[in-house]
Amino acid sequence: MKTINVAMIGQGFMGRSHSNAWGQVARFFKSPIKPVMHTVFGQPEENPRVFAENWGWQNASTDWEQVVKSPDIGLVDIVTPNFMHAPPAKAAIAAGKAVACEKPIAATLSEAREMAQAAKKAGVPTAVWFCYRRCPAVALAHQLVKEGVIGDIRHVRAHYLQDWAGDSVPLTWRFVKELTGSGAHGDLNAHIVDMTRFVTGQDITEICGAIAETFVKKRKKMTGVSAGGIGDGVKASEEYGDVTVDDTVLFLARFSGGAVASFEACRQGTGNQNRNGFEINGTKGSLKFDFERMNELEYYDATAPRRVQGWTTIMCTHGADHPYVANWWPDAHLIGYEHTFTNEAYDFLCALAGQQPTVPIPDFEDAYQTQRVLEAALISAAEKRWINLDEVK
Ligand SMILES: NC(=O)c1ccc[n+]([C@@H]2O[C@H](COP(=O)([O-])OP(=O)(O)OC[C@H]3O[C@@H](n4cnc5c(N)ncnc54)[C@H](O)[C@@H]3O)[C@@H](O)[C@H]2O)c1
Repeated sequence: MKTINVAMIGQGFMGRSHSNAWGQVARFFKSPIKPVMHTVFGQPEENPRVFAENWGWQNASTDWEQVVKSPDIGLVDIVTPNFMHAPPAKAAIAAGKAVACEKPIAATLSEAREMAQAAKKAGVPTAVWFCYRRCPAVALAHQLVKEGVIGDIRHVRAHYLQDWAGDSVPLTWRFVKELTGSGAHGDLNAHIVDMTRFVTGQDITEICGAIAETFVKKRKKMTGVSAGGIGDGVKASEEYGDVTVDDTVLFLARFSGGAVASFEACRQGTGNQNRNGFEINGTKGSLKFDFERMNELEYYDATAPRRVQGWTTIMCTHGADHPYVANWWPDAHLIGYEHTFTNEAYDFLCALAGQQPTVPIPDFEDAYQTQRVLEAALISAAEKRWINLDEVK
């Protein structure tokens, strides 16, 4: 079987989920290429050797530049904070490697543009881990919209609410502009902008107003390294530093097909731990998704006789009909968050082998288009005006 040596740069929360995906993908899927977990990079204080042994990486390194250019490596997977996406991505592209990178593609729009341009020029395959596209329910929604099942889309409502960022959470990289770019916006709105662009098959053409707010303006400075989760377990000193990104960003938008849309991202949406979802309303029907019930898709068929019209909950776990599921478990033996990454690893390996992925992969160019939307919303919030996407390159 054909193989590819993978190097992973970073070993935090996403380092764990990606290690799981690379380890499982060829076990559960008939992958055309088997990934070999060759080398993991971590910072010296993280002890990457221990991580490598736990997750099955053959080698550990504390020198990412050397790892990325090593002739042994065919695919570089980047799971570092957002400011540390562009340097290894550009180095990997220059060395002719395939690159998979976590979202948002970069901390700034100019880095995102440079990454997309460099990948195009070098002709290397790229992917960005917008993992929620790979929930079977979301992939099914994409297929149903493409088949015209809900007709012309008139209205899109997307939200991504979390509640982990209380006052006591230390000043991790997620709250520092130079390290992350933006707060809930780049972290959470990035996913729902990608997901709605993917499901509708349309681009966002205009931002019709936005609001950004930072509720917790100072946090205790972090000591040591991240603990492999979002904010839990991070140690802090008694010294405070400034939060320089948003806690919440809401905006209105228009899609290229004429639909109007609203987007909401918030890290203090108390009681909503990972409530990432959309409602898409069309002329023939509607679809609703909520990640906290990720195996289900809600469908309203407005073409059914009026007396039986109503919301149907589709359990998206039937292997013969629902994307990815045939590779997992029997009907209603549910899958979870980590499976979305394995599904994605499979699709990327298919693309590397010249095969069609199950549903389209967001490459660097596609993720750059999502980053333009995010940037436009921040400009709209700062300047209190509508922004045509043509203004934002
Ligand atoms: N797809 C998703 O659902 C999802 C979820 C969480 C995070 N993410 C994205 O994944 C990326 C990583 O997030 P995370 O939660 O794993 O972060 P994390 O803090 O848990 O881990 C970050 C890793 O990068 C390393 N790192 C930090 N600074 C570095 C530097 N200057 N040079 C080299 N390495 C450095 C850390 O040592 C650690 O190994 C981010 O881009 C984030 O937006 C995606």
